[in-house]
Amino acid sequence: MAVLPIVKIGDPILETRAQEVPRITKKITKLVEDMIETMYEANGAGLAAPQVGVNKRIIVVDLGEGPVCLINPVVQSAQGEEIDVEGCLSIPERWVYVKRAAEIEVTGLNEKGKPVRVKAEGFLARALQHEIDHLDGILILDRSLGEAELEPAENPEEGS
Ligand code: NI
Repeated sequence: MAVLPIVKIGDPILETRAQEVPRITKKITKLVEDMIETMYEANGAGLAAPQVGVNKRIIVVDLGEGPVCLINPVVQSAQGEEIDVEGCLSIPERWVYVKRAAEIEVTGLNEKGKPVRVKAEGFLARALQHEIDHLDGILILDRSLGEAELEPAENPEEGS
């Protein structure tokens, strides 16, 4: 595994719609492993492939219960609304208020190519929406309801 450099705001790949992954190859499996290692190294709660310079629809998240990988994720349903503070590994030292669905259901493939369905609420739902936004070239500053003074205390992670 390898820690990859994280792309920072200003790079056009962060504003580009990422492409579907047609097939889970060894290269994709290696990329997922590297993304997970990179996320841990950066102390992040999640990471999307464009953040490591790869224009593919792959995300990883870990909120303390082990890494979850979703390839070609699609939000199937979304309910409720919650406003909370988010950071992003590609936008250092900034935290903003973002409105997200409170509960979502996402389908996709796991790193082995098996179809999975993830039901999430709270911070996991938020992290998944944040990462899926990255795949559509959307950053938290695009959704910002205002700057927050400080990193959210309840989230030890720096961002995602
Ligand atoms: Ni982010």
